[in-house]
Amino acid sequence: MALVVFAGCSAVLVAAAVLAVALPEVGGRESEVPVLAAEHGVDMGVAVAVEPLLWDGDYRHVVTSTYTSVTAENTMKWDSVQPERGEFDWSGPDAVVDFAERNGLDVRGHTLLWHNQQPDWLSGGSFGPEELRRVMHEHVARLVGRYEGRIGAWDVINEPFADEGTELRDNLWYGVLGPDYIAEALWAAHEADPGARLYINEFGIEDGGPKADALYALARDLVERGAPLHGIGFQSHFVHGQVPEDLAGTMRRFTELGLEVAVTELDVRVPEPPTEEALADQAGEYRRVVEACLDVAGCVGVTVWGVGDGHSWIPEWFPGYTAATPFDEDYRPKPALDGIVEALARRPAPVAS
Ligand code: XIL
Repeated sequence: MALVVFAGCSAVLVAAAVLAVALPEVGGRESEVPVLAAEHGVDMGVAVAVEPLLWDGDYRHVVTSTYTSVTAENTMKWDSVQPERGEFDWSGPDAVVDFAERNGLDVRGHTLLWHNQQPDWLSGGSFGPEELRRVMHEHVARLVGRYEGRIGAWDVINEPFADEGTELRDNLWYGVLGPDYIAEALWAAHEADPGARLYINEFGIEDGGPKADALYALARDLVERGAPLHGIGFQSHFVHGQVPEDLAGTMRRFTELGLEVAVTELDVRVPEPPTEEALADQAGEYRRVVEACLDVAGCVGVTVWGVGDGHSWIPEWFPGYTAATPFDEDYRPKPALDGIVEALARRPAPVAS
């Protein structure tokens, strides 16, 4: 009898040892992230794609063990949701929201009005103001309304400023409706889900400067006019070696308007081939970004743009760059993950009142 018990135990031990070798990431530092993030009261989120979410268990494991919220990387964009006028496809958005709810994760909604990933019928249509307004209201009402109370925050307006500029981008909405399209879309989203936090999401503002100043002026104007704007998203697609020194300072300025802020699309791209030294430095860069958020009272969280380097938009969009996320192509945690954990562990968590 004793022998049988002993044999049973050793079998378990052997099995555990094999598992430990085969799955070095299980129970690794990533599982510290959600615990520490909760202590700070911030979200640590990740952008997800539908296919691997449905079919790749390792991908799902990284998401559920490391993060506290998800953003749909593409499937809530206009061309996915309403590929033909009046024909809505909810399969992707439903998959993301259902997955999040099953796993106790929050959802950021991304995105309502943007100049990219619009279906042809929309970008190529010749709409007058009245009709475009109707189209916009219907899309926002259907999409935001479908997930009322289930998607906590929406990027209502994405990239409203010209790439390098201080002028509002001359997109479809601006061209037909004028600058007030922004307030109008915010109101439409607010009507569809009065509880959702509504954001303007922008890139190239993280280091301050003229574009950040222009966004600040727009945000202040919207706040003064009583528009339902609640937050500013700092996309934060950084290049290794060029992560801004004072991200916290730039974010804090917006919070002084009474707005919350979030890092919404963090990645740090490294030139090919990624050296060990570069990846070690990248860890410090991830650490600094998370620290910046923790240092700003109104910063509600950080979202990383891509579950692993095999699912990152960087190689396709920035040829010659790679390795931009905290997990490698085989979902092994990289030094960048340690950077995130260190930031969360080193900064004192706020004392509960
Ligand atoms: C990117 C996705 O990651 C890619 O898969 C897609 O091909 C293009 O869009 N700013 C944004 C995101 O707000 O929606 C973009 O996502 C990256 C830049």
